[in-house]
Amino acid sequence: MRVVIVGPGAMGCLFSALFTKKKQAEVWLLDNQPQRAKKINNQGIIVEGLGQTFNQKVNITSQIKDIPPSDLVILCVKSYDTESAIKKIKPLLSGDTNVLTLQNGLGNIEMIAEIVGKDKVLGGVTANGATLLGDGHIRFCGQGETVIGKVDGLLSVPMRGIREIFNKSGFSTRLSKDINGIIWSKLIINVGINALTALTRLTNGQLIESPGTREILSQAVTEAVKIAKKKRIKLIYDDPIQKVESVCKATASNLSSMLQDILNKKITEIDCINGAIVRQGKSLGIATPANLILTDLVKAIESVYLPKN
Ligand code: PAF
Repeated sequence: MRVVIVGPGAMGCLFSALFTKKKQAEVWLLDNQPQRAKKINNQGIIVEGLGQTFNQKVNITSQIKDIPPSDLVILCVKSYDTESAIKKIKPLLSGDTNVLTLQNGLGNIEMIAEIVGKDKVLGGVTANGATLLGDGHIRFCGQGETVIGKVDGLLSVPMRGIREIFNKSGFSTRLSKDINGIIWSKLIINVGINALTALTRLTNGQLIESPGTREILSQAVTEAVKIAKKKRIKLIYDDPIQKVESVCKATASNLSSMLQDILNKKITEIDCINGAIVRQGKSLGIATPANLILTDLVKAIESVYLPKN
């Protein structure tokens, strides 16, 4: 299977390196920055953490024309880049190409479906934690489950093939018929961890070491769970707060993606995580004070370094 991974961030590098190392697919990593693509092409992807360090050469390019038609495209860009990324990779899509989003937050599946059609879109979540240490250099901080599904709830033959690539590359992966439930189950984990770690600059593990941050985490998660219940969304775990805390433990040394964004002075995914909870709460008449505060504080930090328009 030929797989194009879009975005050489922490997750994009992790999947590209491991799929290639385990010879599970012909992988092409697509980077929108030619200089960085050149650098990663020369040095390979350096993976450290979880008791291993290795350097893996990968096919990487910034030119869409270098990549032959592909069976699967995996989007590993930030949610605010979804639209431009999907428009860029459109020439790679044949009738049989599936597009898998493993991005955080709400709204990615809908946006991709608008451009490539609902039938081609697979949604998924991953609880693997990786930190970007430099261009093409990552620390693999924690293993977690990856779950993949489709909007129509069907489990197709290509989906089983994709599951195999992930599993044989060392990423424990399963398929689900309830994509909405999966996306919300991951959203709630990001609601509890991302903004709070970005604001406190704590690692995921440190976040649950103090009663104060644990309490705020629990309030933000409880608000999101109320909304999920009202929308009759079935979460894939029974105890959401315990689940979020267990992800903190499993990815203890990780800097959450939002903390990495703040440290690198980049736009964050706050709007499609805690911000999405605030918007949904407003439309359903459910109060979301913890999520509102987290959203406003992250936006205040962003506003210091983002260009004003
Ligand atoms: O966004 C992230 O950082 C990750 O989704 C997770 C699972 C919270 C681990 O850091």
